Amino acid sequence: MEYKQRTVTCGELQISDVGRKVVLNGWVHRNRNHGGIHFINLRDRYGITQIVISDTASEEVQNTAASLHAEYCIAVEGIVQARPDSMVNQEMATGEIEVEASSLQILSTCEPVPFMVDEESDAKEDTRLRYRFLDLRSFGMQKRIKLRHDFVRAIREFLSQRDFYEIETPTLLKSTPEGARDFLVPSRLYPGKFYALPQSPQLLKQILMVSGFDKYFQIARCYRDEDARGDRQLEFTQLDMEMSFVSRDDVLLIIEQLFHYVFKKVMNYETEEHFTRLSWYDAVNTYGVDKPDLRYDLPLRDFNELALLSTFSTFKDVISNGGCVKVIKAPKTDLVAYSRKYITSLEEAAKVYKAKGLAWMKVNDEGHLDGGVSKFFKDVEDKVLQYTDAQPGEMLLLVADEWKTVCASLGAVRIKLAKDLQLIDPDKFAFCWIIDFPLFEFNEERGHWEAAHHMFSMPQSQYLDTLESDPGSVKGDLYDLVLNGYEVASGSIRIHDIELQKRIFRICNIPDEVSQQRFGFLLNAFKYGPPPHGGIAPGIDRMVMIMAGETSIKEVIAFPKNTAAVSPMDDSPSYVDKEQLDELHLIIKEEPKKDK
Ligand code: AMO
Ligand code: AMP
Repeated sequence: MEYKQRTVTCGELQISDVGRKVVLNGWVHRNRNHGGIHFINLRDRYGITQIVISDTASEEVQNTAASLHAEYCIAVEGIVQARPDSMVNQEMATGEIEVEASSLQILSTCEPVPFMVDEESDAKEDTRLRYRFLDLRSFGMQKRIKLRHDFVRAIREFLSQRDFYEIETPTLLKSTPEGARDFLVPSRLYPGKFYALPQSPQLLKQILMVSGFDKYFQIARCYRDEDARGDRQLEFTQLDMEMSFVSRDDVLLIIEQLFHYVFKKVMNYETEEHFTRLSWYDAVNTYGVDKPDLRYDLPLRDFNELALLSTFSTFKDVISNGGCVKVIKAPKTDLVAYSRKYITSLEEAAKVYKAKGLAWMKVNDEGHLDGGVSKFFKDVEDKVLQYTDAQPGEMLLLVADEWKTVCASLGAVRIKLAKDLQLIDPDKFAFCWIIDFPLFEFNEERGHWEAAHHMFSMPQSQYLDTLESDPGSVKGDLYDLVLNGYEVASGSIRIHDIELQKRIFRICNIPDEVSQQRFGFLLNAFKYGPPPHGGIAPGIDRMVMIMAGETSIKEVIAFPKNTAAVSPMDDSPSYVDKEQLDELHLIIKEEPKKDK
């Protein structure tokens, strides 16, 4: 097809270009006809330019203009002219000019669109995903995809300057489940054998350390067969990193420097030079979660002593049974009235995390405790006011239960208060490190200990003698990076000693034969001079989502799956032909349901 190729993009013409003859290629964003004059907003990745077809244009051009519909792809030739003063649009980068068309060519037509390409599109998610090619034309998506590109590019720049090598590792490998379920790929050549898609390149990056690549990174695709949620997808991308001869603090420092560089470069945002560090216990004890949003404070505080001085038997009983009481002070606000209805909504948030109730008392205008459970605290009012420094208009919210339940439920109340009371600065990026995690978690269902992160993390040295006798108290050299209340990275210093690694497998109820069969290749490599090493893996989708101010990672992934793990655009997952199954030596046990 012969057509006029663009000489400029739709985002660049300025008043200084007036008089130039130009060619633009792009999509019809909007097409208006005002009394015989056509105004076409022509769009490409770079912006929008207004095209005018006046009644003095040739009949052919006018006819073509009249036949245009949204999202036709066209070529326009014309002269740049200044807009009349009344038509200048300061909101648009090209708002001072327009192009008077002398020729118009339709490069391709477009069927009626299911939604207008526009940032404010309120199309349902599945419609957006089915027509993702159209959705991606919106400036919002284009901006976010660019942000992602800039982010990854800045990462590559920084790490290359620091002597890291980018090394690819296979996406077809041995199944070594890491926590989630593996996606399996049947082997055609070896009936009954499977490859697995990696949940992360964890073992391979450790083996690269054995090979002497002491600073490695990879923009790595990871696959986990788990439920897709707001910040989770079945396939996602990590910045996977590993280093030899490093301590925990070396890893934390390089990440602080990396994100300082990247945020400056990509968003012109100055991150803290060093990120706050909280032990896992302090994070949960003070903020109720191990991924606290530190853009606001609202700490949970211990309330046992005062509860014991009160006459509230519910609280006293909980404490005498080994539980605890904590309090959050809700600030004075004009945004919500601390009504029964509102307090009930806070209580509901607490009950999601198994709190039995949410006790409350307010400070009235006279500075006295009022309402709720205040009657039980009459004799210790001064002490309560002094301890909490609660002022008129403020409210105390309390939960009594097991420590875990108190933290989790008041943590949820803290998050809800921050949202409702608008305590969150949307322009802030609050990073923090969570360190000193427990190495093991007890899996009640399975009845044995499991690795809290993964099995290759190093226990802190003071626990080496008590690993087997008291797994629950063992802290590991693991760390998470948290940004605005999301876990954005996890990592650890690794075990590089075969015997210690085997002890961890046994504590996690993996007998020697099984660990040999699953992880033998790592243990084998560890026989050949493995260096001490450690690493980390920030989730790229999650980080870009937060940088873009979004709450779903789908907004920063070109072709994501929906929450039902389906891609409405290509209809995957889908059935395959019987021949394909035969080749792979597979028989489907259940009759496939007929597609709707
Ligand atoms: P982990 O499993 O904690 O650690 O993952 C690291 C980071 O990857 C991101 N992430 C996800 N993002 C989107 N969708 C998902 N389903 C998903 N799962 C994880 C998160 C998370 O913090 N091999 C170790 C890292 C290491 O020890 O070096 C690992 O994969 O941002
Ligand atoms: P009750 O004495 O059971 O009527 O409870 C008085 C108030 O205390 C109610 O607002 C309950 O929601 C609250 N409450 C009851 N149990 C707890 C608990 N374990 N922690 C916090 N509040 C509670």
